[in-house]
Amino acid sequence: MSTEPSSRTVPTTPDPESAPRFGVWLIGARGSVATTAVAGCAAVAAGLHPPTGMVTETTPFTDSGLPPLTSLVFGGHDTVDCPLPKRAEHLAAGGVLPHGLPAAVHAELAAADREIRPGGPLSGTDDDRTSDALVEAFAEDLTDFVRRHDLAGAVVVNVASTEPAPTDGSLPPSSLYAAAALRAGCPYVNFTPSTGLHHPDLAELAATAPVPHAGRDGKTGQTLLRSVLGPMFLQRALDVRAWSGTNLLGGGDGAALADPAAAAAKNAGKERVLADTLGSAPEGEVHIDDVPALGDWKTAWDHIAFDGFLGARMVLQTTWQGCDSALAAPLVLDLARLLLRARAVGLTGPRPELGFYFKDPDQGATSSLGEQYAALTDFASRLRGQE
Ligand SMILES: NC(=O)c1ccc[n+]([C@@H]2O[C@H](COP(=O)([O-])OP(=O)(O)OC[C@H]3O[C@@H](n4cnc5c(N)ncnc54)[C@H](O)[C@@H]3O)[C@@H](O)[C@H]2O)c1
Repeated sequence: MSTEPSSRTVPTTPDPESAPRFGVWLIGARGSVATTAVAGCAAVAAGLHPPTGMVTETTPFTDSGLPPLTSLVFGGHDTVDCPLPKRAEHLAAGGVLPHGLPAAVHAELAAADREIRPGGPLSGTDDDRTSDALVEAFAEDLTDFVRRHDLAGAVVVNVASTEPAPTDGSLPPSSLYAAAALRAGCPYVNFTPSTGLHHPDLAELAATAPVPHAGRDGKTGQTLLRSVLGPMFLQRALDVRAWSGTNLLGGGDGAALADPAAAAAKNAGKERVLADTLGSAPEGEVHIDDVPALGDWKTAWDHIAFDGFLGARMVLQTTWQGCDSALAAPLVLDLARLLLRARAVGLTGPRPELGFYFKDPDQGATSSLGEQYAALTDFASRLRGQE
């Protein structure tokens, strides 16, 4: 299997009468990443935009049996009620979505909006449901969605606000949704650093799940760069003395990460990539600053102090300026398609082959991006071979 970067394939249009359809259930369905994924899927499926940033639209995935974009039906949970078409207009005003796109895909946004159910627990209300009652209610929403649309399967993707790691042993919302996904027989993806299936009470369920799952925390910017540069320093036998990083971002993610406990969950993943690729954690920290004026745009600086031959002291500095939702949304679509296909061919449990997509991948994944890409393309072959 070649691991060369490859050209895009032309999307095929299935016969809408007979082709199976698949659900993508987004936790945090009214957020920036979710809205960009729904709008982007409709835009690419309609041929309005090329699938730039979608790895599953490249040659190694051509015959992997992935569900086409035209077959995906969206729904989800959220705790706010801003309609998706309105959310998309805000994103277009902020330059995240192209001008005119919300109008062009209004029907698809409105259809997804009708499939969003109230999440939980709902703060500021008298929502006193127990954890098990919430899991049951979420699972019922999912099975109802699958039944009403006569779907061949559905995948749950967590793109809700980052939550702090739990401190009292109780299941946080992300874990309730993850448990609900498994209860409803749906594959699960955790695109956030939140706990999800990584809770001790869910460890056995995660290990023995009869469906595939993958996580956690999408790797879209600073950590993506780190997973390329870390192995470079190691392979060139250069001695990294310190690696420091600062991020400025706004939007809902910036606001959520202004909470030090939520930021700690995010930064742990960024620092882990360095320890894993370099063999030990270098000196230096990562900081995240909430700058609301930046909206969905992020600037990330890294400062890497390293030694060369005979102790020569050198520095590499990088500046990453990214549109976070535009980086994340195509990966959400990739992961949804890969997990739906993995489920269809009978794969179960954690899928470290998808470590390419995550800051904190499942046990067994390598940490250098090149090796992760090779594992991903091998996985694409495996999906193909299991018709
Ligand atoms: N954009 C990226 O590049 C990137 C990369 C990695 C991870 N992520 C993660 O993706 C997530 C989403 O990012 P975003 O920019 O879309 O954030 P956002 O703030 O725009 O959206 C989050 C959504 O989650 C909803 N939500 C909060 N609590 C909920 C609950 N209990 N149940 C259901 N919904 C709930 C919010 O109402 C909101 O609509 C964040 O956790 C972020 O850290 C993003």
